[in-house]
Amino acid sequence: MKIVPMTTEDAKELAVLDQLCFNVPWSEKSFLEETENPLATYFVAKEDEKIVGYGGIWNVSGEGQITNIAVHPEMRKKGIASKILKELISCAKSCEKIFLEVRESNLAAICLYEKHGFEKCGVRKNFYHSPVENGIIMIREEM
Ligand SMILES: CC(C)(COP(=O)(O)OP(=O)(O)OC[C@H]1O[C@@H](n2cnc3c(N)ncnc32)[C@H](O)[C@@H]1OP(=O)(O)O)[C@@H](O)C(=O)NCCC(=O)NCCS
Repeated sequence: MKIVPMTTEDAKELAVLDQLCFNVPWSEKSFLEETENPLATYFVAKEDEKIVGYGGIWNVSGEGQITNIAVHPEMRKKGIASKILKELISCAKSCEKIFLEVRESNLAAICLYEKHGFEKCGVRKNFYHSPVENGIIMIREEM
């Protein structure tokens, strides 16, 4: 398994993967737009040239914001998200802190983030839709 920067050629496959991972998946167009976003850095995890996971971060005025991270349902619990997250964190070395939001019920993701030094620091009421749910804000300050 290798972790490599996302390219425009990955967008279609990522949109298919996202449908397996989220109730409100991103479209191919959304991924393509992110490849053109100068603030964004995305990595994909590839096994035998097939994309099995991805994650992204924005660097906005020296603050990192994790936008998304997902792993194919059949490839979970093998440490792939941890590897992607480590890449994202090392990309944000110049940032003072990294923020993210996560669904309140998403214990797998909350545990993943806590394992990598993120702490809960707030709640965004009804931040998510389909279904409506609070967003937990998490922060990592020690870069
Ligand atoms: C959250 C997600 C990315 C984790 O991916 P993964 O590759 O399975 O995660 P890893 O194998 O790297 O696990 C790292 C840590 O995450 C936590 N974790 C992962 N899956 C978990 C689960 N089902 N329950 C509890 N903790 C879990 C554990 O702390 C784990 O460490 P451990 O193996 O030492 O116990 C994956 O479940 C996923 O794609 N979910 C759907 C998309 C999503 O919700 N993304 C997050 C958006 S904010």
